[in-house]
Amino acid sequence: MTKDFITALPKAELHLHIEGSLEPELMFALAARNGVAIPYASVEEVRAAYAFSNLQDFLDIYYAGADVLRTRADFHDLAAAYFDRAAADGVVHAEIMFDPQTHTARGIPFAEVIEGLLSAMAQAQARHGITSALIMSFLRHLSEEEAFATLAEATPWLDRITAVGLDSSEVGHPPEKFARVFAAARGRGLKLVAHAGEEGPPEYVRQALDVLAVDRIDHGNRSLEDPALVERLAREGMTLTVCPLSNLKLCVVDRIEDHPIDAMLAQGLRATINSDDPAYFGGYVADNYRAVAAARGLDRAALATLARNSFTGSFLPADAVAAHVARVDAMVHPA
Ligand code: HPA
Ligand code: ZN
Repeated sequence: MTKDFITALPKAELHLHIEGSLEPELMFALAARNGVAIPYASVEEVRAAYAFSNLQDFLDIYYAGADVLRTRADFHDLAAAYFDRAAADGVVHAEIMFDPQTHTARGIPFAEVIEGLLSAMAQAQARHGITSALIMSFLRHLSEEEAFATLAEATPWLDRITAVGLDSSEVGHPPEKFARVFAAARGRGLKLVAHAGEEGPPEYVRQALDVLAVDRIDHGNRSLEDPALVERLAREGMTLTVCPLSNLKLCVVDRIEDHPIDAMLAQGLRATINSDDPAYFGGYVADNYRAVAAARGLDRAALATLARNSFTGSFLPADAVAAHVARVDAMVHPA
């Protein structure tokens, strides 16, 4: 069987919340395993609840769903299921976010969360040859002090964490709220990413650049409202981790046909395609490529650019980036 072009294209996924890969079937299985009650009678009922009109609608359901995750084995099984799907989609490298505060606030030890994820990452490398990295995200609706406490809790694992991130409710929680903890993370050798410009204004993207000094912007859609900002992002070669099906489900765009992915590329932005919370938004990374390819008529050259950007925007060492980019190039310019 020949794989379709999008699946066969080597890709990195740079914006994936591991808690957002919890499929309803696994949610039921973990609820049963842990004796946790969930407010749904069936998988169909869960999926029917996934109708969101904004980010907060989604976050309420996403944090509730995470309650079934209790043990190291749960976090392992969650991530293993993600890696199996990612491998089937042609993902060869994944930089996955996790939200420790969602779990430690419920009394789950930090060690249970991260050790479960790390064992699934090792297994994915052995089984599928997928490399991966961890991004520890701070919940921006909580205080900077709580983010500092999380950074302190992570101390024994800092050599296995690549970056810190910033997620959850954006509007009202600007990047500058986390200036000191991001500086501290940078001081400990971590890379920095932040969600900005998903629902928040272009000013939040500027703050992520100027105040946090991030290495990547997650989403960044609303940058397009500010031509000077777009020019700067393009000039600086800043990677944007764009999530088309998430944008549709959270009403960042009204219709997938309106998605600005090709406008981003045309303006010189280093955009990438990612799945964000695939179990909630109706598709993994290849589904996201397919959705915009169909809706915006992207050709193979544009798809290859998006895949190339996913490697140049990754935190992989330069030699690995070059090797992956060469494989992408071979897909569009066969020898
Ligand atoms: N935005 C903000 N926080 C999140 C998201 C998102 O798209 N997904 C999971 N947490
Ligand atoms: Zn996200």
